[in-house]
Amino acid sequence: MAVKNVEVIVMKVKSSEFVTSNTDYRKCPPAIHPEYAFVGRSNVGKSSLINMLTDRKNLAKISSRPGKTQLINHYIINDSWYLVDLPGYGWAKVSKEAKYKWEVMIHDYLIHRENLCCLFILVDSRLEPQKIDLEFIQWAGEKAIPMVIVMTKCDKQSKGKTSKNHEQVKKSLKNNWSKLPQIIVSSSNDRTGGKEILEVIHNVNATFSTNN
Ligand code: GTP
Ligand code: MG
Repeated sequence: MAVKNVEVIVMKVKSSEFVTSNTDYRKCPPAIHPEYAFVGRSNVGKSSLINMLTDRKNLAKISSRPGKTQLINHYIINDSWYLVDLPGYGWAKVSKEAKYKWEVMIHDYLIHRENLCCLFILVDSRLEPQKIDLEFIQWAGEKAIPMVIVMTKCDKQSKGKTSKNHEQVKKSLKNNWSKLPQIIVSSSNDRTGGKEILEVIHNVNATFSTNN
């Protein structure tokens, strides 16, 4: 039997460069390229994931202490699309005022950034669904923000534990979603999930005829 040629498209990140850091979406770089942002609880691994996708060690600043990323950080990839590293939510050691500022900064960015094509919402794969994450996912869904859920740090536990939490996340979302968002399991340490995330980006970029 003849075997068909199956083309596997693996997008290559050929260049990645820091552009700007902002607190105000109105000051972000011109909205002329497709944009992909990473959000989630402090310390969940957003900056690490951006480094993994771009194959850079220090493009985005990471720290073992929560609250490292404080601004809206733009990176231009292959001169044709943006990755955006956002500050995390749910960091216990911040004042009410700081929490409010975070909400205004991030919610405004997410609602108004017209070239935002997909929001990757990161949750810790080691934990059962957390109220704060489910509430944020619900909020983004109500705002009709296209999203993919990424379950991070899967290298830190057994596959069985990860798939149990994966099922729990799906179960929790089913209460409010008729069609579930895509869920990708990832590890920035062993690169799990990198291809899947780049594939999502590639497919959206293709609709813009962007030079990946
Ligand atoms: P904030 O900027 O504070 O919101 O945090 P963040 O979500 O950007 O997390 P960051 O990438 O800074 O990572 C937090 C800590 O988790 C660091 O110590 C990372 O080395 C670690 N980490 C991130 N991703 C992974 C992963 O996939 N596996 C493991 N084992 N550790 C990870
Ligand atoms: Mg960070």
